[in-house]
Amino acid sequence: MKGRDIVAVLGLMLVVAVVVNVAEGDPDTVTKVKMVNGKKMCDKGWECKGWSIFCCNETITDYFQTYQFEQLFSKRNSPVAHAVGFWDYQSFITAAALFEHLGFGTTGLKTLKMKEIAAFLAHVGSKTSCGYGVATGGPLAWGLCFNREMSPSQSYCDDSYKYTYPCAPGAEYYGRGALPIYWNYNYGATGEALKEDLLNHPEYIEQNATLAFEAAIWRWMTPIKKSQPSAHDAFVGNWKPTKNDTLAKRGPGFGTTMNILYGDFLCGKGDIDSMNVIISHYLYYLDLMGVGREEAGPNEVLSCAEQVAFNPSTSPSAASS
Ligand SMILES: *[C@@H]1O[C@H](CO)[C@@H](O)[C@H](O)[C@H]1NC(C)=O
Ligand SMILES: *[C@@H]1O[C@H](CO)[C@@H](O)[C@H](O)[C@H]1NC(C)=O
Ligand SMILES: *[C@@H]1O[C@H](CO)[C@@H](O)[C@H](O)[C@H]1NC(C)=O
Repeated sequence: MKGRDIVAVLGLMLVVAVVVNVAEGDPDTVTKVKMVNGKKMCDKGWECKGWSIFCCNETITDYFQTYQFEQLFSKRNSPVAHAVGFWDYQSFITAAALFEHLGFGTTGLKTLKMKEIAAFLAHVGSKTSCGYGVATGGPLAWGLCFNREMSPSQSYCDDSYKYTYPCAPGAEYYGRGALPIYWNYNYGATGEALKEDLLNHPEYIEQNATLAFEAAIWRWMTPIKKSQPSAHDAFVGNWKPTKNDTLAKRGPGFGTTMNILYGDFLCGKGDIDSMNVIISHYLYYLDLMGVGREEAGPNEVLSCAEQVAFNPSTSPSAASS
């Protein structure tokens, strides 16, 4: 496909597409570039497919490599960890590749891209950690220690969803994955999005790290409700808060990602430990990735201590965990 592609003129839209191959960086990846209505669109092969403005600049493998993943999750394969050999860099990258053309880790300048990966992985690391105060390497070194809830106290079957997401006989919907999924309706919705039968086979998530990361990135990229921002949109600044959001102290940034993912389990409760531990992971990862925690911004951006939840937990569908 070297050289020029088709010049297409579609009705009144005047879409002019000129494809030029430009080799950039990694010799295995060729970035194809075209202009559509004055916008530069790119396609970078397996990692950033489908003409998108997000595929023109660095993609995740350009700034986040195996050794960095190993530094962030350095204790995950230690003998006392609970998912030894399960999680690896390649499964994260393979999963991320489905979402990079939508802006995951590919939005804005390089620092913002790296911050988004640090933020996403901070949620993952803190939710899958078995670190505690006296753990070797410190409590923040133990992310990706689990891939499932160890001693579930119930099977998380909510019968009020029996027409939409009926529980499969014998299936257990306990917490699994990188951002753990709980309850039949969450397995059902995630499975629909990823075209995997997770309602009948929730165990796929603890058997396949790529799928586990795909489910987590999908959660990060997708609003809980249509009228609300996704964690991604809130983090990278795509979302413009309404007056109600401002009154509820919700603004763009890391704090609001916690509000979206965990609501009033974590937010609006002051400076609680369960919130601070996620923030600590984020700052630690920023340091390890070489971005530096000073890039994280002030406490009011980082925290959701004073925020009102987007989705109060009065309804059973409000949140996971
Ligand atoms: C790509 O980088 C350019 C220049 O640094 C920047 O202006 C542009 O916004 C970036 N594209 C995206 C989609 O973030
Ligand atoms: C894991 O899941 C991914 C994504 O659905 C799939 O492509 C891959 O084949 C699966 N791996 C195994 C070993 O089943
Ligand atoms: C703002 O909040 C009020 C009171 O809760 C509500 O009635 C109204 O619909 C909200 N407006 C928007 C745009 O969400």
